[in-house]
Amino acid sequence: MELKSTWSCPSNIALVKYWGKKGLQLPANSSISFVLSDAITTTTVLAKVKNDLEPEPQFSFLFHGEPQPSFHPKILKFLTVASEHLSIINTHILEIQSSNSFPHSSGIASSASAMGALSLCLCSLQEKLDGEEDENFFRNASFLARLGSGSACRSVYPGFAEWGKHHSFENSSDEFAIDVNSIIHPIFKSLNDVVLLVETGEKSVSSTAGHGLLTNHPYAAKRFEVANEHLTLLQEILMNGDTDAFCRLVESEALHLHAMMMTSSPGFMLMKPETLHVIEKIRTFREQSGLPVCFTLDAGANIHVLFPEHIKQQVMDFVHNQLIAYCKNGAYLCNVVGSGPNKLD
Ligand code: DP6
Repeated sequence: MELKSTWSCPSNIALVKYWGKKGLQLPANSSISFVLSDAITTTTVLAKVKNDLEPEPQFSFLFHGEPQPSFHPKILKFLTVASEHLSIINTHILEIQSSNSFPHSSGIASSASAMGALSLCLCSLQEKLDGEEDENFFRNASFLARLGSGSACRSVYPGFAEWGKHHSFENSSDEFAIDVNSIIHPIFKSLNDVVLLVETGEKSVSSTAGHGLLTNHPYAAKRFEVANEHLTLLQEILMNGDTDAFCRLVESEALHLHAMMMTSSPGFMLMKPETLHVIEKIRTFREQSGLPVCFTLDAGANIHVLFPEHIKQQVMDFVHNQLIAYCKNGAYLCNVVGSGPNKLD
């Protein structure tokens, strides 16, 4: 018997960053993010009963219809760990087909949306195999996604999600993310995120390697403490709708992340000259206009410009007049807070 499942799942952008891990893909500090409306991976998994007793997971993988052998080691590693939690991976051969709504190598983190979509498919297939509904479906999908890529566990919910055991968030856990939309002030539910693509190639240091450099980092313990404090402060801000405090805190978080990269051993810098020019422009614009627009950064050179919906016109004029010149081929991607994953079968 063949079983099939299709899910779309968005990427996300963290406001308080996950940078540093412990144990099996557990975060060294808690983080919070929102999912993007227009950076989506769609994945279909077809499961066919295995006839042999081969212990290793068996799968094939197509990306935009083409074989992608370079992705195989990461998928195999994920399926091997995930097979301890889902029997279908042991009993079935998996045919995985995936595609992204955003250009490959656009600098948008695709591991979150990819691992999120794959985990949702696997959990759906397990439900079908078991013939019963999983009442903790999204929590289990988040748990599974975490094993593939930490940030992916925050992608299986709509809007805002928190990951990591934290005293300010009831029911929070290191093992899976939780939906925190009920605390979010309406002004932040309408956040826009314009991603300015100042660099579109492969990153010089992968996130996974970057996390590893926290192990002997002289500032690691303090950073984890500060990140958890930032989360408490941000929770308050997200509840009361204070956009000025939001801008200050979110920018500080992004720079803490990059400061950790620069002070690793060996140190590395993912920001480019254009990144710094854009940061300066955003800060000057905010000062002069009084409008709550700010930036955050992922593990890369691209800048996420964040602002609430009601100032969109002014900010987009600013982006066009002053920032696009710094983007590779003038490229940028417009997102709002997304509605989360979708089951498509
Ligand atoms: C800077 O989740 O990509 O985007 O767990 O090794 O797959 P792995 O790392 P990953 O790290 C994301 C780091 C970040 C911050 C964040 O999303 O919180």
